[in-house]
Amino acid sequence: TGLDALIKSKGKKYVGFCADPATLNIAQNVAILRAEAGQVTPENSMKWQSIEPSQNSYSWGNADTLANWAQTNGKIIRGHTFVWHSQLPSWVSNINNKATLTTVIQNHIAQVAGRYKGKIYAWDVANEVFNDDGTRRSSVFSNVFGDWTFLDVAFRAARAADPDAKLCLNDYNLDYSGAKLNNFVQLVKDLIARGVPIDCVGTQSHLVVGNGAIPSFKSTLDALASTGLEVQITELDIRTNASPSSQQITQQGNDYRSVASACIKTAACSGITIWGVSDKDSWVPQTFSGQGYALLWDNNYQKKTTAYNGFVAG
Ligand code: XIL
Repeated sequence: TGLDALIKSKGKKYVGFCADPATLNIAQNVAILRAEAGQVTPENSMKWQSIEPSQNSYSWGNADTLANWAQTNGKIIRGHTFVWHSQLPSWVSNINNKATLTTVIQNHIAQVAGRYKGKIYAWDVANEVFNDDGTRRSSVFSNVFGDWTFLDVAFRAARAADPDAKLCLNDYNLDYSGAKLNNFVQLVKDLIARGVPIDCVGTQSHLVVGNGAIPSFKSTLDALASTGLEVQITELDIRTNASPSSQQITQQGNDYRSVASACIKTAACSGITIWGVSDKDSWVPQTFSGQGYALLWDNNYQKKTTAYNGFVAG
């Protein structure tokens, strides 16, 4: 039963959801995760700011809780995330020296990946390194290095710390053909060509209901699969107006079907992570003003049949 069992029956590895101690404290949420998930991704607890808020001072509590819950309940884990411009403590973003930053990245990854070694299916080693126009995003990492080689440092450190974890490059707004998708694919090919250890690409897939690119989502996955690597949908949600029209509700069902179907039909696509269970706990309303209703369970942890059945129909 559940979405995870269903997708496994279609040859995929998992359906997962983000989670963390805050949502693992909600009984209805946990019951859904137990029944529907094969994988969990820490929504916040493994981000740099959460786990190493000051240098060499680690806050393992929340991440350990998530990891222990996953192990107890037989769920695999996607680790999220090491090198990211956001939710990054200022002690890191203030570093202006390449040698220092290199050591800091290496140490952070050695500590975090090392602690969860053997328990992580895949790590988002780097997240959101592109601007929407396909140029390299400004961050302490890209600015101090002046090129992409901060990725080499991070991926090599992750491989050394946990050789069995798949190592992913993750980004958003790859859902539309264009410079961002093209340049992302080219960067991955370049990393492979120079021997950087990378195993997977992640496409977050924070989508807007009815977007014209969703019916052709398979072409996005095909482009990502052209890297030769495993492809993962890592943070799926499909937002509507906060109070959706009946037309939007129908469309959302169609859109969930398109995304699930695209993964199922793409051999390289291994699994889908949905960015939350209930609309009540979704990041969308706090982030996109006036929008919401993005997930498969409503504010009362009741299954949204149109959206859920759409996913199932994929
Ligand atoms: C979001 C979380 O869901 C929120 O709780 C937090 O306040 C901000 O970050 N892309 C990512 C995720 O890679 O880590 C983000 O998660 C959503 C966008």
